[in-house]
Amino acid sequence: MSRSTFTCNECGAAHKKWAGRCEACGAWNSIVEEAALSTGPSKKTLGAAKGRRVDLTSLSAKDTPLARAVSGMDEFDRVLGGGLVPASAILVGGDPGIGKSTLLLQAAASFARKGLKSIYVSGEEAAAQIRMRADRLGLSDAPVMLAAETNLRDILTTLDAERPDFVIIDSIQTMWADNVDSAPGSVSQVRSAAHELTAFAKRRGVSVVLVGHVTKDGQIAGPRVIEHMVDTVLYFEGERGHQFRILRAVKNRFGPADEIGVFEMTGGGLAEVSNPSALFLSERGQTASGSVVFAGIEGTRPVLVEIQALVAQSPLATPRRTVVGWDSGRLAMVLAVLEARCGLSFAGMDVYLNIAGGMRISEPAADLAVAAALISARQDHALPADTVVFGEISLSGALRPIAQAEARLKEAAKLGFATALAPASIKSAATGDFQVKKLSDLGQFIVEVFGDIRA
Ligand code: TYD
Ligand code: MG
Repeated sequence: MSRSTFTCNECGAAHKKWAGRCEACGAWNSIVEEAALSTGPSKKTLGAAKGRRVDLTSLSAKDTPLARAVSGMDEFDRVLGGGLVPASAILVGGDPGIGKSTLLLQAAASFARKGLKSIYVSGEEAAAQIRMRADRLGLSDAPVMLAAETNLRDILTTLDAERPDFVIIDSIQTMWADNVDSAPGSVSQVRSAAHELTAFAKRRGVSVVLVGHVTKDGQIAGPRVIEHMVDTVLYFEGERGHQFRILRAVKNRFGPADEIGVFEMTGGGLAEVSNPSALFLSERGQTASGSVVFAGIEGTRPVLVEIQALVAQSPLATPRRTVVGWDSGRLAMVLAVLEARCGLSFAGMDVYLNIAGGMRISEPAADLAVAAALISARQDHALPADTVVFGEISLSGALRPIAQAEARLKEAAKLGFATALAPASIKSAATGDFQVKKLSDLGQFIVEVFGDIRA
């Protein structure tokens, strides 16, 4: 007997009955009825039946190192952890229209030119449309094979026969498995298609990329269910008005997570940006108050970004706290420390914080740069244009040491900055003309940069 289950299309939570609102994630109208994949656990436990004995090995067994394939698109290879691992399943998520198809068509072409047999399966566009795009990107000569198809059974049969090295499924939401009784894009279809395709990747030693659209709250439909199945999860991010695109590894079984690749969307497709700091700072105009350059680390690479703050008298009873590109909880903490430890109150003021260029920062090392931007905006006092700032702020107002200070300072010096404001506990010293001002707490930092402003 097959019973129906009710699944939330946003978060994948299972419910016993239909409801207008998912209790797990709070989304409205997201719960759909689906035929259950299995008919439930059998009465007999697995342990009761006789299974096959599995070989056990030791941790010290020597395996040959992973033979990675490199595409030659350095930004893409780096995010993968140094190239494509055979038999791996990779999920590439992102907003519709951000450039996923463009990126992966370019990657497929690069791998194909390196001799990997590459197949691009599109469930969204006709073959003629993809050819037109390839033509515009100057990739027509690359030996990529195309299929416009959504039937998973037919796709798997084809892939089994063709034995490719690299397959792109664009997108997982358009795939349709005929053994699952629900519409394409639903959680059970997405889950089942992802399962079949990752199993195929492992069985045949093929690297498979699954493209997944992200819903407006930043999750791929049926997200949790795919993320744990695949080896690598990459997100392609960026803002519509901006040409920058960031490919970020949020999970990688074969490399560091948090690694980023930076691209620029141009008329001729995605161009790699090998020096992201220069790009992120390129839009910085004359130094105004509220603008501070943060020397950050993304993955293994130092990246300088501009943090912008605006502070204004608020007409509201509860002033606004608006953050783009950073954590709002972290902003609340920095504001609280400024008030409690340094006597700088932001009560009655609206606070806006923005990371320029569409970057998203998650490092605590940005605390000090954010604090500097907030004070600079509040006091209308600009920092010197040639200064970078980094450091984590503790609740006591002390500046805590952060990782990879050396790399941050080097990058700042390379880009023409002359001074860094950093926690006292970092080891690196000044080199050449580059000056490192080491500070032990937020109060000392404020006096150093803004003078005595306690009022
Ligand atoms: P696309 O790769 O189709 O996005 P996704 O697959 O993530 O939905 O990219 C679509 C956008 O990219 C579209 O708005 C136009 C832009 N674009 C360029 O600016 N230059 C190009 O060379 C290409 C191919 C696309
Ligand atoms: Mg697309």
